[in-house]
Amino acid sequence: MLSLGKTMEQTLILVKPDGVERGLVGEIFARLQRAGLKIVALKMVKATAEQCDKHYALTEEWMKGVYDKAKAKMESLGQPFPYPDHKAYGGMIKDGLVEFLQAGPIVAAVFEGEQAVAQTRKLVGATEPASSAPGTIRGDFSIDTYALSNSQNRPLRNLIHASGTVEEAKNEMAIWFKPEEIVSINATVDPVLYGADRYRLAK
Ligand code: PPS
Repeated sequence: MLSLGKTMEQTLILVKPDGVERGLVGEIFARLQRAGLKIVALKMVKATAEQCDKHYALTEEWMKGVYDKAKAKMESLGQPFPYPDHKAYGGMIKDGLVEFLQAGPIVAAVFEGEQAVAQTRKLVGATEPASSAPGTIRGDFSIDTYALSNSQNRPLRNLIHASGTVEEAKNEMAIWFKPEEIVSINATVDPVLYGADRYRLAK
C-alpha cells in the first residue's frame, strides 16, 4: 500500500456538448491520463436543469470572477464591454451555461492524482480558448473568443469544465456522481508516480 500525502486530490471534469460533438472526449481524457491523472468515475449524461443550476452556483464571487476576467480581456483589446455590472453579466452567463450544458450529451468524470485540481486546470488552459496557451486543451482545440461569444449572447465554447478548488470539486462531484460511483483503483503505475522507495538503491 502506498502512503499518499494530503495533496492527493480528486477533481470533476465535464466535457461540454461542443467537446462531445467534436469527438474530442478520447483526446481530452488521454491528455489528463498521460500526465498521470487517474479516472475514478466516468459517465455520459443528459444533464438536467437542476444539475446545471446547482453546478453554476450564482454566488457574488462567481459573478465577479466571470465579469472581471471578461472585462479585463475585452479592455486589453481596446474593445467595448457594455455590461453594467457583474450581476447582469454573471446572470446572463449562468443562464447561457445552464442552457449550453443541456443542449447535448456531456461526459462527466472524476480524475485523481497529486494536486489533481491545479494540475488539471493547467492542462485545460485559460477560460477563453483564443487566449489559452498552445499545449493546453482549450488552446489546442478551440479558438472561441469573448468578443464572438458576447456578440452572440452565448457562453464561450471552451470544451471542458474543470473544478477550480478542492472544495468546489467536492461539491461538484456530489452533483454528478453518487459516492458509490467513484471507485478506488490501485494502478500498477502508482509506485512509479508516487512510491517513496522506488528508484532507491537497496542497502
Ligand atoms: S474557468 O474556466 O473555470 O476559469 O472559468 P471562469 O472564468 O471561472 O468562469 C466561470 C464559468 O463561466 C464560463 N464562461 C464565461 N465566463 C465569462 N464570459 C463568458 N463569455 C463565458 N462563457 C463561459 C467559464 O467557461 C466557466 O465555466 P466552466 O464550465 O467552469 O468552464
